[in-house]
This record gives sequence, C-alpha cells and structure tokens, in this order.
Amino acid sequence: MKKIKVNASSSYEIIIGEDLLPSAGEYCLRALGKTCKACILTDDNVAPLYLDTVRSSLVGAGFDTVEYIIPHGEGSKSTASLIELVEFMAENRLTRTDVLVALGGGVVGDLGGFASAVYLRGIRFVQMPTTLLAAVDSSVGGKTAVDLRAGKNLMGAFLQPSLVLCDYKTLDTLSPEIFADGCAEVIKYGVINDREFFDSLKKGIKIQIEDVIAACVQNKANIVENDEFDKGQRQLLNLGHTVGHAIEACSDLRISHGSAVAIGMVIVMRAAVRMGICAEVELDELLSVIKSAELPTECDFGAEELAAVATSDKKRAGDSISLVVPYAIGDSRLYKIPVSELRGFIEKGLCR
Ligand code: GLY
Repeated sequence: MKKIKVNASSSYEIIIGEDLLPSAGEYCLRALGKTCKACILTDDNVAPLYLDTVRSSLVGAGFDTVEYIIPHGEGSKSTASLIELVEFMAENRLTRTDVLVALGGGVVGDLGGFASAVYLRGIRFVQMPTTLLAAVDSSVGGKTAVDLRAGKNLMGAFLQPSLVLCDYKTLDTLSPEIFADGCAEVIKYGVINDREFFDSLKKGIKIQIEDVIAACVQNKANIVENDEFDKGQRQLLNLGHTVGHAIEACSDLRISHGSAVAIGMVIVMRAAVRMGICAEVELDELLSVIKSAELPTECDFGAEELAAVATSDKKRAGDSISLVVPYAIGDSRLYKIPVSELRGFIEKGLCR
C-alpha cells in the first residue's frame, strides 16, 4: 500500500492499495474525523460490483448511507444529471457536515465532485476511483465538471476531495479497452516530464500497477501543489488533450477519451518533429509504447475539422491557444500559437 499527501488549498491523502474497499468506512472515518450521512454516487456498471461492499463498510463504521445510481457513460455528465443529483441530496437532507462518496470512473468523479462543490455552496467528497484513468488522473487534483452542449467539461469548479481511496483490485473487472484508456494518461506523465518513468513503462503497465499508479499520482500531486488553479504548469497535463477532445467530438464520442489522447499525443509530437524541435527517434519510442498499450495512433479526421472543433477548447485565450508540445520524451512545454495557425499545426501532425 502507498500513501501520497496532496498539499493544495486543502490537504488530503491518496491511498493506493489492493482490496481497500472492504475497509472504506474506516478510511473515510479517519479522513473525515467523525461519522455523518454519506451519499454514495455510482453508476449501473459499478453498482453490482462494489456498491454493497462500500455501503456495508460505511455502515459498519457508523455512517448513515443513501445511494444514487446513474447510467454509465459520458451522457451522465450533463447539467440535467447534476440537477437530479443535487435535488436527491436535498431530498435526503444532506447538510454541510455530510459527504458525497464518488465510487466509479471519471464521469462519476467529475459529476459527484461538481455536485459537492455547488450543493449548499460546498460539502465534502471522497473519491473512490474504479478505472485506471480515474485512478491516475481525474480523481486527483480537484477538477470537477459537467459537459455543456458546446463541449466537454465547460461547467465546473475546483474542489479538492477529502480523501482518494484507490483500490486497484477494481481494475481487474475492466474491459481491455477501458484499461487501455487509462494507459494513455499513464504514458502522458512520462512524456510530460519523466523520461525514467516513460522507460519503465516498456516493461508493461499491468505487471507493476501499484508503482505505476503511485508514480502518476505523485507526479500530478507535485503539479497541483504548484498550480492548483491551472494558470501555468498544470496546463502541461493537457498534453494530447486539445486535439484529443476534438477527435472525441468529431467521432461523436465513439473514439474513447484515452484513445483520443493517445492519437492527440502522436499528432503534436509528429508536428514537433516536422517543425524540427523534436527528434524523430522520440516519436518512434512514443509510437511503440502507445501500441504496446493497445491504443491507436491515428485517426481518419482531417486537420480542418479537428481545428474547427479544437478552437472552442477551454485552453483558448482570445486569439491564441496553448498547446503542450514535447521537445523530447520527458520535456514537454507550453506552446502558444495564434488560433489561425492551429489547422496548419494539426496538418503537420497527421500521418500523410
Ligand atoms: N486532467 C487534467 C488536470 O487535472 O489538470
């Protein structure tokens, strides 16, 4: 088991280990100080697997529980789901001293976190990630959000959780595709700033899962401690995401987030190679690690359509957009370009 402390606007622990959910109640009690009412938010995929375990453990530790189950998938990260959830919390009379427990992947964590940020102007929440993507990225650092019609994560808030309890035994029940999705975010950390970690991934991710999750979480914790509110260094975590979000949108979400981020990383790195700021051998290494994680490296969309969608990205500031560009594996930098040059940049990154 590994414990990582995050010292942001509030401090909390991320506990990473195998088979932690049966003791979820004790961990929550320790993090929250005393028992209260816990609203367990989960989805219809996760509920049959882990809801009973978490509920029994919380009740055993003295918590009063209510449960709210959403349909799985990005469609639940909507303003309509948010309103339904906060109405449920109000009907069940949750107070400021109560807690929301987000048991699931990124959708559950982001929706639950945002509901916790706005309900009564803020109550506490605990993240219990059950996907690799949520474990290494979305459960850490306090970004919460729902999607708007105009794009993903366009309405949200920063709210740090009181505890992240990461039981990686839950990853055993993921499909290979969902596991691979999280691998894209794992690889991302190596490409951003950690060449040694990137090299270690050549041994495989699953066989060293605890170390991999802990390294990603420690890396993200360091970044969040320096730039909690995403004004500078934290934007590096968007490597592959500006183009990736455009790929997801152009595919009507048929291409998953992780697959889109993998392709997005390849596009920005290939553009960097063609611009002469990154060596081609670095791109070859990235392609090889992405392929061994069973992720795609190309898509069929053109630069025109990707750029059109990407210009509505949150990272846009007026007439410019900040991309994250690898100069080498382990050395990615923010790279500001005029919005008018984005199409040309993406064109350079496509495999033609
Ligand atoms: N997922 C990017 C961030 O937390 O900043």
